[in-house]
Amino acid sequence: MKPFQGKVVLVSGGARGMGAAEARMLVAEGAKVVIGDLREDEGRRLAAELGGASVFVRQDVTEQVDWDRAVAAAEALGGLHGLVNNAGIYKPATLMETGAALFERHLRVNQFGCFLGMKAVVGPMERSGRSATTLRRKTTRASPWGEVRCGSGLPAIAGSRGAPTGGARHRADARSPDRSRRSGRRRASSSAPARSSRQRRTPARCRRARRTR
Ligand SMILES: NC(=O)c1ccc[n+]([C@@H]2O[C@H](COP(=O)([O-])OP(=O)(O)OC[C@H]3O[C@@H](n4cnc5c(N)ncnc54)[C@H](O)[C@@H]3O)[C@@H](O)[C@H]2O)c1
Repeated sequence: MKPFQGKVVLVSGGARGMGAAEARMLVAEGAKVVIGDLREDEGRRLAAELGGASVFVRQDVTEQVDWDRAVAAAEALGGLHGLVNNAGIYKPATLMETGAALFERHLRVNQFGCFLGMKAVVGPMERSGRSATTLRRKTTRASPWGEVRCGSGLPAIAGSRGAPTGGARHRADARSPDRSRRSGRRRASSSAPARSSRQRRTPARCRRARRTR
């Protein structure tokens, strides 16, 4: 039996690129796929290519109502067993070139859209028997259920705090003449010099240092 036989997976941003490749792969592995995307022509073409194993739903991941529609389409196919939270935008610009609108659009699609997606699928996946995992965008690494359910009560705090760290690291990288001293967070928040990966304290290094003292 194929690994995804009998499963239904929602792929956001599935009309082209990596999302389309994931949709094709999932169908080849036996799944039914809901392709969610803003790009209607490409999405419908892909759904036609994949035949009865797939449907296209016009979806803007920043809109709750669109997630509801995509989830309903999955349930009409037989449940919801997984999400590839893939939709995203990538419009590179330097710090000084980045206007508020561009910055906010990235946050809204790449961060808020993912948050809405995780939240939208938890109930339907539980109803479908929790028999699959949610896939995390970019890494497509399987996340355990506990993480998807955000049991810590910190999704808004952790999600928003993590974002400036990534942004600061890129700003520091762009400005640092010494690429081995990368640590955006440290550089952004303090004047202390950053440790290189060789200098960073790890439990094993601390133990070795104590033994040689
Ligand atoms: N390609 C890479 O090297 C790379 C590297 C790191 C991360 N990523 C991330 O992986 C994902 C897929 O990358 P890709 O190269 O296939 O990108 P892509 O631009 O080819 O495809 C992204 C898809 O998301 C859709 N999309 C954008 N905004 C949307 C929205 N608001 N609602 C619904 N759909 C929306 C687009 O229409 C498009 O079909 C993206 O999130 C991207 O940021 C890609």
